[in-house]
Amino acid sequence: MTQNVLILPGDGIGPEIVTEAVKVLETAKQKFNLNIELDNALVGGAAYDEFGTPLPEVTMQKAEKADAILLGAVGGPKWDELDDRELRPEKGLLGLRSGLELFGNLRPAILYPQLADASSLKPEVVSGLDILIVRELTGGIYFGQPRGIRELENGERQGYNTYVYSESEIRRIAKVAFESAQKRGKKLCSVDKANVLEVTVLWREIMNEVAKDYPDVELSHMYVDNAAMQLVRAPKQFDVMVTGNMFGDILSDAAAMLTGSIGMLPSASLDKNNKGMYEPCHGSAPDIAGQGIANPLATILSAAMMLRYSLNESAAADAIEQAVSNVLDQGLRTADIYSDGMKKVSTAEMGEAVVAALANA
Ligand code: NAD
Ligand code: IPM
Ligand code: MN
Repeated sequence: MTQNVLILPGDGIGPEIVTEAVKVLETAKQKFNLNIELDNALVGGAAYDEFGTPLPEVTMQKAEKADAILLGAVGGPKWDELDDRELRPEKGLLGLRSGLELFGNLRPAILYPQLADASSLKPEVVSGLDILIVRELTGGIYFGQPRGIRELENGERQGYNTYVYSESEIRRIAKVAFESAQKRGKKLCSVDKANVLEVTVLWREIMNEVAKDYPDVELSHMYVDNAAMQLVRAPKQFDVMVTGNMFGDILSDAAAMLTGSIGMLPSASLDKNNKGMYEPCHGSAPDIAGQGIANPLATILSAAMMLRYSLNESAAADAIEQAVSNVLDQGLRTADIYSDGMKKVSTAEMGEAVVAALANA
């Protein structure tokens, strides 16, 4: 049976890095005889420019039908001043996540040994790092109502958002996290702000309740401010971390840097049936867009996650991850992970090196 993959390049460096990931997917398709078909659509600012909306109906329809989606990144200064916030590129991404109920966001932060020098932390603190951040992706303060900017009686304006989680939303992300921990080091740290916010008092309570179904997993709790500090002090103490939408957004960018660059961090966003959207954790990097220097590896590794989690092609996924490791062994580095003595390469050179390593494996 043919599996359909929807490619959404997006904005900024999105199309540059997705081009390389598609080359890698095409190579994997031939080498492993994969029965996958790729289709394309617009999202974000690119879709706004063409259709006047960041998430056109045709894109949503294709996304609903697809077995998996690979996305680059959205957003950029060109669209930052749009008066109607609903038309911002980021709304296209958020609309896909919530419309497809992709509540389970997996963000693995793994330090390739070859990149120990590129990490912002000392090699002994990060070597061997392999943690997984499980971020709730369709709830919390990102989606809570009411929200907006209102005028107060004294005439000044007030901005407001609402941080809410229902028990069922907490329970379903807890299950994803406990099951992930069961397959790994069996340690789960739930990150909250239960000393201040009631919504996370409930979060903690439900985590404890779900823990009873997973007696082999050791659950701990940590406040988010301490978690941010511990991530840069001694990140290897963690195995799996689970947290809400906004804390997960912030902690995963911090964790990314431990692996050498945000250009190395892939992600999977899954629904309850493991249908998923796959994207690098970074954004559209307007500061380097159009220069051909962005690191495509996070997107290539996201394509590998897609093969593993949604398309059931784990041999092809393993081979892509091995090919990435091989090009790092060859000393090839984009600017963001460059260190002395290595060979600096462009986005396309990096993509082509992964293609060659995969083809020759
Ligand atoms: P960003 O992640 O785009 O960039 C932060 C820094 O990291 C920049 O210096 C950038 O050059 C660098 N960087 C990011 N990806 C890189 C890569 N692959 N290779 C080399 N360097 C890389 O974050 P930002 O600057 O805060 O946001 C820019 C735009 O992207 C905004 O419009 C934001 O809303 C959007 N954004 C989108 C996503 C997404 O689509 N998933 C994620 C984050 C931000
Ligand atoms: C991410 C991004 C998005 C988020 C933005 C662009 C909506 O930062 O995927 O990490 O905050 O989730
Ligand atoms: Mn982010």
